[in-house]
Amino acid sequence: MSTLILDDVSKIYGKDTRRSVDGVSMSIKDGEIIALLGSSGCGKTSTLRMIAGFEDVTSGTIRIGDKVVNDLKPSERDVAMAFEGYALYPPLRVRENIAFSLLKNRTPRAEIDKRVGAVSDMLEIGPLLDKYPPSLSGGQQQRVSLARAMVRNASAFLLDEPMSQLEPQLRALLRARIKDHMTAHRMTTVIVTHDQTEAIALSDRVAVMDKGLLQQFGTPDDLRERPANLFVASFIGEPPMNIFPGARTENGVVVLNERGEAAFGIAGATGGLSAHDGLHVGIRPHRIHVGGGVPGAETVQGEVLSSHWLGDHSHIGLSVGGCFLIAVGDRDATPPAGSVVPVSIPRDAVHLFDSASGAAIQHGL
Ligand SMILES: Nc1ncnc2c1ncn2[C@@H]1O[C@H](COP(=O)(O)OP(=O)(O)OP(=O)(O)O)[C@@H](O)[C@H]1O
Ligand SMILES: [Mg+2]
Repeated sequence: MSTLILDDVSKIYGKDTRRSVDGVSMSIKDGEIIALLGSSGCGKTSTLRMIAGFEDVTSGTIRIGDKVVNDLKPSERDVAMAFEGYALYPPLRVRENIAFSLLKNRTPRAEIDKRVGAVSDMLEIGPLLDKYPPSLSGGQQQRVSLARAMVRNASAFLLDEPMSQLEPQLRALLRARIKDHMTAHRMTTVIVTHDQTEAIALSDRVAVMDKGLLQQFGTPDDLRERPANLFVASFIGEPPMNIFPGARTENGVVVLNERGEAAFGIAGATGGLSAHDGLHVGIRPHRIHVGGGVPGAETVQGEVLSSHWLGDHSHIGLSVGGCFLIAVGDRDATPPAGSVVPVSIPRDAVHLFDSASGAAIQHGL
């Protein structure tokens, strides 16, 4: 069952001619947690605010449960929200701020106390319950605002950058707890974030947006292993995918360097590609094995240009036939700059894209 459905939803603000959200369609299942991920200005908040009812939908339909909600007020949509700038009530203590919607629904006192206690323990704000919002830090206010949303029963939970003001250690701790809580309570949730680690850690599926367009909506594995296009391939992953122009050969593909010369070949099956297809070849840094020795992989010689140990892994810059490649190494596979080493590229780590449209053609050779 789908709880939340967007069907060809667009947003044009005021006199703009540009679509800030451009024909987004997605279907979110009951109890599913999804993330809207993309860089600043790509239309994440606009999409969330249309679902919440704070912005009109220019065209398209939004359904929550079995109801079209386009013309319903936010309060009629049965959604719980935590938005930046969605202020707490200053004259009420933190406890009453969190309990506000439960008090309004006449939830029994014991039930309210139990739920407020559970979410405030989860978000580490138990000691703040008797304080007033103006005396809290930004990060504390943000967690109270998140608690106020999460304590509710609602058809959908809409969270816009809910942890943007927290330091990294606390974010990582709360991420795991929030995910467990949402999953246990089957909370249908849309989380907006520009942080891919957060998106991948928190959600079942991730919707990647760029310039108002939905680029791909899939599981974290889909985005990593089967990116739909060059945008997703280069957006997801740290360091991002190595991407080069290439060409088809008789027994595989050849990667071209900046001068358009053949840098190295990768043998493998290229299916129905024609010799004239304009190709881009993508290889994930994490899949490249510096030192070689991977059975069945294509092994080429590379010169190490840079080698940076980052505490638990390294980023290794390589030149292979004049092509600059980034690889991720571990303690045993981090040769010093200046050395020449075998470099293994597993065939299933090679992705082919259409140069003109950017669309993926093939994952793995
Ligand atoms: N109220 C508004 N009036 C006019 N244009 C707007 C308004 N809100 C957003 N926009 C425009 O719509 C586009 C998408 O903005 P949106 O806030 O949805 O992006 P976002 O992905 O949430 O970005 P960020 O990560 O910076 O929060 C931007 O170009 C922005 O300038
Ligand atoms: Mg935003």
